[in-house]
Amino acid sequence: MNRNPHVAVVGATGAVGIEMVATLEKRRFPVGKLTLLASARSVGKTVKYKGQDVAVQELTKDAFKGVDIALFSAGGSISKEFGPIAAAAGCVVIDNSSAFRMDPNVPLVVPEINGADVKLHKGIIANPNCTTAISLMAIYPLHQAFGVTRIFASSYQAVSGTGAKAIEELRSQVGQVVRGEVVTREVYPHQIAFNVLPQVDSFLPTGYTKEEMKMENEGRKIMHHPKFRASVTCVRVPVYRAHSVAISAEFEKPVTVEAAREVLSKAPGLDIVDTPEKSEYPLPLYVAEKDNCQVGRIRMDCALDNGLCFWVVGDQLLKGAALNAVQIAEELLR
Ligand SMILES: NC(=O)c1ccc[n+]([C@@H]2O[C@H](COP(=O)([O-])OP(=O)(O)OC[C@H]3O[C@@H](n4cnc5c(N)ncnc54)[C@H](OP(=O)(O)O)[C@@H]3O)[C@@H](O)[C@H]2O)c1
Repeated sequence: MNRNPHVAVVGATGAVGIEMVATLEKRRFPVGKLTLLASARSVGKTVKYKGQDVAVQELTKDAFKGVDIALFSAGGSISKEFGPIAAAAGCVVIDNSSAFRMDPNVPLVVPEINGADVKLHKGIIANPNCTTAISLMAIYPLHQAFGVTRIFASSYQAVSGTGAKAIEELRSQVGQVVRGEVVTREVYPHQIAFNVLPQVDSFLPTGYTKEEMKMENEGRKIMHHPKFRASVTCVRVPVYRAHSVAISAEFEKPVTVEAAREVLSKAPGLDIVDTPEKSEYPLPLYVAEKDNCQVGRIRMDCALDNGLCFWVVGDQLLKGAALNAVQIAEELLR
């Protein structure tokens, strides 16, 4: 791999793409050349990188000539169409969509957990689902210490997880409600302002949504733990940025709050915020724009024989997407 790689960001005008460009700059990734790609609608737009306005170009089949690393965040169908084209042109694709995550030939990586899997790539590396990545930042260190068997979880997912249009939908609906106007909606099946929606992604015949099953399926692959079980309810909440997840986890080995705190205090990319008597716990409003995830409300689970309850919050545009993708790119250069 070129030490100063030519990096392309596909979907550079989107909620994740903009964060990818900012994260490359913030982490001083040694970008040799930066190419920004989006749809024909965005030609003429620019995105700031290191104080310069970089022009957005149209994504075409020829766009990957000379590119070393392509960070994709333009949706699953674009990844399916252009990911293999980019890989065939010789660049390593780091894909944010769900298109390749469960493909056995594609590593699915959270660098703090299975960074070594990056080396197994055959041109495409997948970035996990955002709620899964954030949850695993706390689950995995506990798994290493106590052996997780299963979890029960509910997520509280921010609208920016759906993309730029959903952020605008929440903003405009809040204004409409406050002004007493009729609420209009385009992105979600129901009003999201002053509401919570127990649906993220589409439903499967089992009654779970696709998003809910990602925790078990992707969790198994990332943790190399094929027996991991997860029963999850994913909920969209009127929060702009950062997902929260309430988790009850059951373990093989005896667990205590003290031992869990000790383990979590050493976990990379994770901060403990847990002083309940001062009402201090992780909050999406304050975790937004932070690289590290936060865990709090750590307590013994009163309904499991050997379980812990905890609350994990992470900026899903960062650890759930852009930051994780750039960390994978950093692994490639190691
Ligand atoms: N949002 C999150 O927190 C999050 C987290 C993890 C993974 N992801 C995944 O990341 C991807 C992007 O999500 P997002 O939230 O950033 O969505 P978004 O805000 O809607 O942005 C979509 C991006 O894709 C581009 N695009 C759309 N159609 C295109 C086409 N035909 N050709 C080229 N570019 C096209 C858009 O360009 P134009 O502006 O030109 O339309 C825009 O740059 C999705 O696969 C999503 O599942 C998102």
